Amino acid sequence: MGRISYVNGRYVSHYDAVVHIEDRGYQFADGVYEVVTIVAGRLVDMDPHFERLARSLCEMKIKWPITRRVLVLIMRELIKRNRLENGILYMQITRGVAPRDHKFPIDVRPSLIMTTKRIDFSAEKKQIVGVKVISIPDERWTRCDIKTISLLPNCLGKQKAAEVGAYEAWQVDQDGFVTEGTSSNAWIVTQNGHMLTRSPTNAILNGVTRLSLIKIAQEEGIVLEERGFTIEDAHQAREAFATSATSFVTPVINIDGKPVGDGTPGALTRQLIAWYTDYVAGLRTVA
Ligand code: PDD
Repeated sequence: MGRISYVNGRYVSHYDAVVHIEDRGYQFADGVYEVVTIVAGRLVDMDPHFERLARSLCEMKIKWPITRRVLVLIMRELIKRNRLENGILYMQITRGVAPRDHKFPIDVRPSLIMTTKRIDFSAEKKQIVGVKVISIPDERWTRCDIKTISLLPNCLGKQKAAEVGAYEAWQVDQDGFVTEGTSSNAWIVTQNGHMLTRSPTNAILNGVTRLSLIKIAQEEGIVLEERGFTIEDAHQAREAFATSATSFVTPVINIDGKPVGDGTPGALTRQLIAWYTDYVAGLRTVA
């Protein structure tokens, strides 16, 4: 059986999965999305993903295409049809299909698509060896808290990183503070062992992984500071790492060609990876 995707009410072969050319997602990036991790057939952090989706839809004034209950049924059905044990589910909702016009169409039905992707998380080497990061100016808009499909600056940044053999680009605001990566949140561990990451303002996407990791770390008694840090701070830090639904907790060992700490994944980062891996496997819960 081939890969199956979901498009506006139908389960279709992934290769025949198409949307209309006048979908506003295609023409205006007028839509929102979520990426949910699946580990051992289980959807990780469903509730926070739905909370963020609800918020994104509300901020964009896009209606729910169907109820949350039915959305969950479709997600589970798609996972089942793809026999997906480990990987991700991508869900996208756009304002819908209408003749091209910048202002919102009246009575349009939002479009809903879902795809899944198999990932063997246990074979991911990034978490063991760590990754390199470059810094770039943050050239995005002022509502990075909304998970919109408008990701062009993020793609440009990620490409720039890839071209120099780096995994991620950390975006730096006009005051010199790191906001986040192009598809992950950015963290450092200070010399006194505190975890430090940007506070969840409109300047960053409040990652679901970020939120769960904060809860785990707090339960373990790790001190958290939510404030901006500079690339210089990161170079002075003991450790650095990135978080996202697809990359979990990933050690950052080098920024702009200079090592972080001793240039290998830090002790706290490795501990966080272990705790977070237990969490996604359902071996620990958070309040
Ligand atoms: N990206 N910041 C940005 C800009 C992101 O795109 C993402 C996730 C995150 C981390 O959020 P979360 O922990 O909820 O995955 C932070 C997803 C994975 C993507 O676009 O593929």
